[in-house]
Amino acid sequence: MKVYHPGASKEDAFKIEVDFLTKLNFPHLINIVDSRINATVKTHARPEEKRPVIVLELAEGGELFDFLSKLGKFTPEVCRAYTKQLVAAIRYLAEVGVSHRDLKPENILFDSQFQLKVSDFGLSRDAKGNNNDFQLSSRVGTEGYKPPEMEAGKYTGLQADIFATGVVLFIMYNGTPPFLSTKGHDRIYKLIKDKNFVKFWALHEKNKPPGFYPDAFKRLMNSFLSAEPDRRPSFESLEHDEWMKGDDLMSSDLFAYMKTKADKLV
Ligand SMILES: Nc1ncnc2c1ncn2[C@@H]1O[C@H](COP(=O)(O)OP(=O)(O)OP(=O)(O)O)[C@@H](O)[C@H]1O
Ligand SMILES: [Mg+2]
Repeated sequence: MKVYHPGASKEDAFKIEVDFLTKLNFPHLINIVDSRINATVKTHARPEEKRPVIVLELAEGGELFDFLSKLGKFTPEVCRAYTKQLVAAIRYLAEVGVSHRDLKPENILFDSQFQLKVSDFGLSRDAKGNNNDFQLSSRVGTEGYKPPEMEAGKYTGLQADIFATGVVLFIMYNGTPPFLSTKGHDRIYKLIKDKNFVKFWALHEKNKPPGFYPDAFKRLMNSFLSAEPDRRPSFESLEHDEWMKGDDLMSSDLFAYMKTKADKLV
């Protein structure tokens, strides 16, 4: 259950999230069960309080963030399996015209079978934007996941979500993010903006065994993290991508891998 804080802007956020959740229905998205603008809840402050509340299907498998921050990176096969599920979710969102705009491991959850579920539509937006030209301009989201063009002004929501997907894949593969901040002073983010992927990889490879990042992975990542939105992978190109087409995992193997990790988390 997601309980909103009181206040007018929070009510707007509640309405936005409920509206989006109500129109979405896809296996790799968290589904809404119920919502109340004025539910009676028990809070830390008071035994009874009126608050906007959203009841969501429970993601019993936990948060991607906890797995990565507490237990480190995934194997390449697991990274690939979850990237496919994340891309499927974004593809569905693009088809129904929704930009998520806050994709990150904290908002990526797992169900009881450790299937990926995208959650938190609090910053989502109609992909068409105010002028029906698919150009958005609000600089929202989380530092560390924003594409370079967002800072500059206009961006498309889909390309922002694709950039964030690349960051999430990198974190799953590497155990730590590709860069620390999307603010101007971050040295590695600047390399991305300058299209200097030679140096980007030289820095990342410093503390890694040889061959840790295969060429096909680097090519895919260069495309995901491209400063030019048009160079980022399309859904079609991802289907034919060399790294994405690599060894797959059966869902029972994915479950076994994640269950072993989940048992260490409790
Ligand atoms: N359906 C769910 N099942 C299990 N846990 C959930 C579920 N939804 C959210 N959570 C947990 O609660 C946390 C916060 O939820 P959510 O991301 O929706 O809100 P938020 O981060 O406070 O919103 P915002 O990012 O807009 O400020 C998630 O990171 C997750 O750990
Ligand atoms: Mg969140």
